[in-house]
Parts: sequence; C-alpha cells; structure tokens
Amino acid sequence: MKVSIFGTGYVGLVTGTCLSEIGHDVTCVDVDEAKIEGLRQGRLPIYEPGLDSMVVRNGSDGRLHFTTDAAAAIAGAEIVFIAVGTPPDEDGSADLQYVLRVAKTIGANLRTSAIVVNKSTVPVGTAQLVRGAIAGELSQRKVEIDFEVVSNPEFLKEGDAVNDCMHPDRIVIGATADAAVDKLKRLYAPFVRNHDRFVVMDVRSAELTKYAANAMLATKISFMNEISNIAERVGADIEMVRRGIGSDPRIGWQFIYPGVGYGGSCFPKDVQALARTAQQHGYRPQLLDAVEEVNERQKAHLFELIHRHFDGQLSDRTVAIWGLAFKPDTDDMRAASSRRLMEQLWAAGARVRAYDPEAMDEARRIYGERVDLVLCDSMEEALRGADALAVVTEWRQFRSPDLAAFRTLGDAVVFDGRNVYDPDELEQAGIAYYGIGRGRSVTGG
Ligand code: UDX
Repeated sequence: MKVSIFGTGYVGLVTGTCLSEIGHDVTCVDVDEAKIEGLRQGRLPIYEPGLDSMVVRNGSDGRLHFTTDAAAAIAGAEIVFIAVGTPPDEDGSADLQYVLRVAKTIGANLRTSAIVVNKSTVPVGTAQLVRGAIAGELSQRKVEIDFEVVSNPEFLKEGDAVNDCMHPDRIVIGATADAAVDKLKRLYAPFVRNHDRFVVMDVRSAELTKYAANAMLATKISFMNEISNIAERVGADIEMVRRGIGSDPRIGWQFIYPGVGYGGSCFPKDVQALARTAQQHGYRPQLLDAVEEVNERQKAHLFELIHRHFDGQLSDRTVAIWGLAFKPDTDDMRAASSRRLMEQLWAAGARVRAYDPEAMDEARRIYGERVDLVLCDSMEEALRGADALAVVTEWRQFRSPDLAAFRTLGDAVVFDGRNVYDPDELEQAGIAYYGIGRGRSVTGG
C-alpha cells in the first residue's frame, strides 16, 4: 500500500520504517529540511537501536522516501498518518497546533479518497477536530472527497521501539467505518501474522486507551516510589518488597522498579494532559494528580540524599553522574531526572562531572558550556576528582563497576538512583551506599 506519514519523530520514523520493512511504499514527511536531508543520507535525528540500518536498507530498496513536499505525499497516498508532536502547553494540556496544521494540509491537498490515521497521542475528541479541519479545507476548495479519520495510538517504547512496532502486543483501531478497519488490518497484517492482536473500538475509546495505558504504567511507578519512601522510614528494603509482590500475577514484575521518578516524552506529559482533560470535563482526577506529585517529589530525592550526606555543604563538592538519558538505550533527555538533579546540585554550588553512553551531544545541546559541568568521555573519567557518584540511569555498563575506582571518590560514597548495586558488597568494600527505599544510610526526612 502507498502510505504517507507526517512527522519524523520517534513514532513517525519508527512506524514508517517498519511499514516499509514489511513491503509498503512509505513516504515520511517533515517540515524540517535539514532533518529530511539527513534522513535521505541515512543520518537519524534520534538514537534508536536497529533503526538506522533499517532506514538505509529500505531507502536503498526504494520503499522508504523522505520529503518536505507535503502536497505530493498526500496526493499519492491511500493512508495518511499524523504522527507529529503534541507538546504540553502552559497548563499541561496537549498542544494540538501541529496535528491540526497537518490536518489542514491534508484537506488542502487530498485528491482521492484516503484514510487519515491519527497516531499522535491526542486528547479525546481530537479525531473530530481533525475531521473538521480537513472538511473545512475541502469545502473551501469546493470539492467532495471521501475520507475517514481513524485513531490508532502507538504504544512503542524508546530503546525497544523497532521490536515493539514489528511485534506489537495489540493494535488498537478506533474507527466508525468497517472499510477503514479492514484496510488497517491489511496494512498491519504482517506484524501480527495469524494472531488476533487487533482491538477495534470507537474513536473516543481508542483515544482514551492511549492515555489510560500510560497513566496506569506511571501509576505503578509512582506507587512503588511511594512505598520506597515508606520503606526508607521504617527500615525495610524495597527490593525485597518488590520481589515479594511481583510474583503475584495480578501485580506483575514490570514497572514496579522504584527509582528517581519517571521521565521521557510520554509519561510526564500524558499524565498531565489526561488530568487536564478530566478537569475540563468537570472531574477532579485525584489519583492522577497524586501520581504526578509523587513523581515530582521523587525526582528531587537523590539530591536530598546527597544534600543530607554532605550536611548541606555542597559548594566545594564535585558529584559524578552516570546516566543522563531518561532511561537506557536512548539519547533522549526530555523530562529526565538527571536534569533536575544537576540543576539542584548547581543551585547548591556543586560541580558535576557527567557521563552517558549516548546522551552527551544532547547534554551539550541543552546546557552548552558551563563552568560547573564537565561532560566526560567515559564513566571512569567522570569519577576523576569527584567526591561522590550518583547513578541516575541504569545503563548496562554501569552495573558491574570497578569498586576500587569508587574508593578513589573523595568521600567514597555512591548514591544509587536505580538500585543497581548490592549495598552489602559496596559497604564491605568501604564505600558508603545510598539506594532508593533500601532502609539504610538514611533516616527521617
Ligand atoms: C512509554 C510507554 O512504556 C510506551 O508504551 C508509550 O508508547 C510511550 O511511553 P517510554 O517513555 O519510551 O515509553 O519509556 P518507558 O520504558 O515506559 O519508561 C518511562 C520512564 O519510567 C523512564 O524514566 C523509566 O526509567 C521509568 N520507569 C520505568 C521506572 O522508574 N520504573 C519502572 O519500573 C519502569
């Protein structure tokens, strides 16, 4: 099938590449000329394992195209995806200006009947606005062309996005017309082979499903962070508690890792946006508000541990930070907890030596040159001359460090924001250890 996708961010680029991988003829459209030119030459705007080789291969096989020419991309397509960003506006609602701009462009350029698929995470009711924007343009042009707006939210995770797209656990389709549902089922058939992974529903339910999924996952994380704060106060070890509850299949093992709070492009903004939607409909979303509040507090937790350890005297201290990305296997620092920690350390007068396997360019882009930030080339270099280490992202290479190197830290102390180390092992090696919710080295607060 001939498919066009607007937006070459995570969702658009991964979806487009995977659809070309299974044989469709895909055109990815973006307004950013430099991004499109880079993609044509095989340079990706994001780091996502396995994606670059797929882009290059499908590009040279002639199934994957990149363009800024929206009109041409729309004219030839049977299915047009909207996969542009929905950043939060001042009050936390999703800002729909990019989605609606694409909708207008579609209306202005549609030549034959098509299915318009909304893949951006959008508040309930957006499909209707998209439909209105397209219809408005068509009536201005005084033409009548059949089109259908479908909601088809994306559930991919950064770092594992290609796998999530090629092997989805479900494909949610929110549509009114059977013909559109059938067409999308045919489009996606190779991803699901003979498994029935399609969940077909009305458009509004599909829109809400995406928010419900992310809010549920964010809730699990905030819940565990809440329990970890209680564990710290009562002298329990959250890691034992986690093992004790995860074996109950009703709870499950996933998304019950306490840590430095959730970050990234989805959870923080989607929890907020869902809360705003609820408020706009006259409902006070107490649980969602608490999920966000707990997360905000948790993002400050590692700093509080550091601050307390040094009796509030941080002005002459240097803290090494391992991990800047909001999670491993990505270079994304959007809403990353590392940012809050660094900014708090700087405000307290401390210096930072930071290392991340992939996010160094991103850190440079965000912070530029600063006297209180040294971006290091290796994890070992970050430790040099530092008083303490804070682990913020659980990259694999941080998991089995050389303990002797930890002893060279001015204060021989490690703040483990992801509970990746064995406290006993570190303490036996003469290194002070603070984890999250592990009931040691910490009191009160
Ligand atoms: C998420 C959803 O998982 C995905 O389905 C949706 O499409 C987009 O949002 P992503 O933001 O890429 O994906 O990352 P995810 O792996 O879900 O992690 C989000 C954040 O939660 C990270 O900061 C991670 O460190 C944190 N997290 C995750 C925890 O703190 N504890 C956990 O147990 C799991």
